[in-house]
Amino acid sequence: MIVLRDMIESDIEDYVRWFTAETEWMDWDAPWENEETTPEAEREGWTEYFERIKTLPKDAPRWKFEIELDGRHVGWVSRYFDLDYVENPEKIPAVGIDVPERDARGCGVGTEALGQFIEYLRAHGARRVYTQTWSGNVRMLRVAEKLGFVPYACVKDLRTVRGQKYDALTLKLDLDTEEQT
Ligand SMILES: CC(C)(COP(=O)(O)OP(=O)(O)OC[C@H]1O[C@@H](n2cnc3c(N)ncnc32)[C@H](O)[C@@H]1OP(=O)(O)O)[C@@H](O)C(=O)NCCC(=O)NCCS
Repeated sequence: MIVLRDMIESDIEDYVRWFTAETEWMDWDAPWENEETTPEAEREGWTEYFERIKTLPKDAPRWKFEIELDGRHVGWVSRYFDLDYVENPEKIPAVGIDVPERDARGCGVGTEALGQFIEYLRAHGARRVYTQTWSGNVRMLRVAEKLGFVPYACVKDLRTVRGQKYDALTLKLDLDTEEQT
């Protein structure tokens, strides 16, 4: 069963591992952005983050949830407003997802977790969401397709990954079907 939940203290060490040791997921999530880090820096950063969010009121809107698969922490979903290369004056949320635990991928976790998060955003007033990826990320593109996203913007050859050029892609999903344009 897939559950979205708030961060708990024991997640900190998962983040330290995902950002310093088991980093294969970064080869797919904006690999042109990766920065050097250390376990100490990650532990400090994630501990500070946890201290900041742990007292959030129950009804405060969330921008990030942890993904749990049958009780195991396997990744996260999040939303942001600052898109790359796309103006977003209406502050339409863009959603992102990472499942660093490789053995949890490929069996529907990504689609189900992102789908649940989009439902959450819809329940909190979103009428459209974006997601941004690149043309080499076939798994993310398939997840987006399964959830009903359609192409919104494309910048040809913007990304270079492992020596090859790829298109930067933004997809959109209209949630209020009566208002679709
Ligand atoms: C992208 C990601 C979140 C998807 O999660 P997931 O649990 O693997 O997703 P799902 O199992 O729901 O769906 C994956 C789909 O991709 C398909 N797929 C997997 N490998 C593929 C490949 N090499 N070529 C084409 N399709 C592929 C799967 O078959 C599945 O489609 P299906 O249900 O039609 O069979 C996850 O793979 C991940 O975290 N990857 C690394 C980080 C990343 O890329 N994050 C997104 C950044 S934009």
